[in-house]
Amino acid sequence: MKIAVIQGPNLNMLGVREQHIYGPMKLEQIHQQMKEFAEQNGVEVEFFQSNLEGEIVDRIQECYGDANGIILNAAAYTHTSVAIRDAISAVSLPTIEVHISNIARREEFRQKSMIAPVCTSSIVGFGPFGYHLAMVGMLQIFNEIRVAQQAAQQAAQQA
Ligand code: DQA
Repeated sequence: MKIAVIQGPNLNMLGVREQHIYGPMKLEQIHQQMKEFAEQNGVEVEFFQSNLEGEIVDRIQECYGDANGIILNAAAYTHTSVAIRDAISAVSLPTIEVHISNIARREEFRQKSMIAPVCTSSIVGFGPFGYHLAMVGMLQIFNEIRVAQQAAQQAAQQA
């Protein structure tokens, strides 16, 4: 099973940008922790960060037929991007939206997520720990899919 982690604009500046909101941890450190967790749990994980909307759309499309789930922090594009929303719908993969800050408690323009309605779930406001929660959540989704597939196979054999 493979998880694609996709990070949007300015997340490469974590550890530098607005530390009072996003904390001191760098993106590489977050990814290292996710990688270790993935290894411990026997899943593959791939990381991608871009400041460009079209590159994020391309990366989501590449997940089709390749990854089993997506963990996405679309950052500022969360609030504006119909293109990213459509890409998530197009690939139809389990997708967990992560936000380091609690966007519901911030400026009004951040309170709406364009992409939340097409994601499986959203994790907000836990700081960088939200990425770990998303990994745990994705493993749970994979388990549920496996159980459903096994039940379908058994039903087919009995028919
Ligand atoms: C963010 C919240 C967004 O509103 C903001 O533009 C970001 C980061 C978060 O993780 O809290 O860049 O997605």
